[in-house]
Amino acid sequence: MELSKNEKKLAHDVMEMWEDDVLKRYPEKTEKAKEEFRNYDAPARDTVREFYKINHEFQTLDFVKAKKQQYLSLTKKEMTLWDAVEFLNTLVDDSDPDTDLDQTQHLLQTSEAIRADGHPDWFVLTGFLHDLGKVLCLFGEPQWAVVGDTFPVGCKFSDKIVYPEYFSANPDSKHEIYNSKLGIYTQNCGLDNVEMSWGHDEYIYHIMKDYLPEEGLYMLRYHSFYSQHRENAYDHLMVKHDHEMFKWVDTFNKYDLYSKSPTPPNVKELRPYYEDLASKFLPDVLRF
Ligand SMILES: [Fe+2]
Ligand SMILES: [Fe+2]
Repeated sequence: MELSKNEKKLAHDVMEMWEDDVLKRYPEKTEKAKEEFRNYDAPARDTVREFYKINHEFQTLDFVKAKKQQYLSLTKKEMTLWDAVEFLNTLVDDSDPDTDLDQTQHLLQTSEAIRADGHPDWFVLTGFLHDLGKVLCLFGEPQWAVVGDTFPVGCKFSDKIVYPEYFSANPDSKHEIYNSKLGIYTQNCGLDNVEMSWGHDEYIYHIMKDYLPEEGLYMLRYHSFYSQHRENAYDHLMVKHDHEMFKWVDTFNKYDLYSKSPTPPNVKELRPYYEDLASKFLPDVLRF
């Protein structure tokens, strides 16, 4: 099933909308950033609300299990890293003058900022890979099941999650067990035992889980889990090791959110470096 040009543009717009909204909620805390923030073209509140209304209603434990069943055999498509990057980039409508950054540029800005700070090569690669799971959109998944803040399912939805009021329409919030604090989990069971809402984070984690160091895998899997990495709403499900690893998630988050620069990276020039880097860690063909 091929998405129409309009559908791709819509998907791209929703992704930008979500990312802009995250940035609005968690602005960079520097003087310069505040300046820029004031000029910032905020997405219409209604679009954001509408997005979360649907997301919160439909992300149930059963939905997550069904999506994992559907996708985690990784039999949808085989692509080289660059095929995947270009495939994801088809979400951009070139004719749109308002498009500030395409998907490839966001990946490269994130990874280049990590590289510029002298971080290890696996960290740079993780930055470059982190949003590739958004290809889910091109497999026909609705935007609310691809992007947006992620959160645990199968236990009570925290009121620290953005727009918590919309969980009232989620059937799990009426469920005797799923609506209890620990739900199907036990105290401090560890995040690896917790089912997260379905989206690009969980998907890319599974695609990469045999190839990157654990720190990188945490970044991939939990980079949109704002209610924990910014609000600490789920300490009761985490173990000490998760907290250790979340220091890396926090470090990564700054590059994801605040690396937008006015000069777009030169994709052509950077490609050989990233292909070489990928060959150190990844197989030639990736399974999606
Ligand atoms: Fe992301
Ligand atoms: Fe991102």
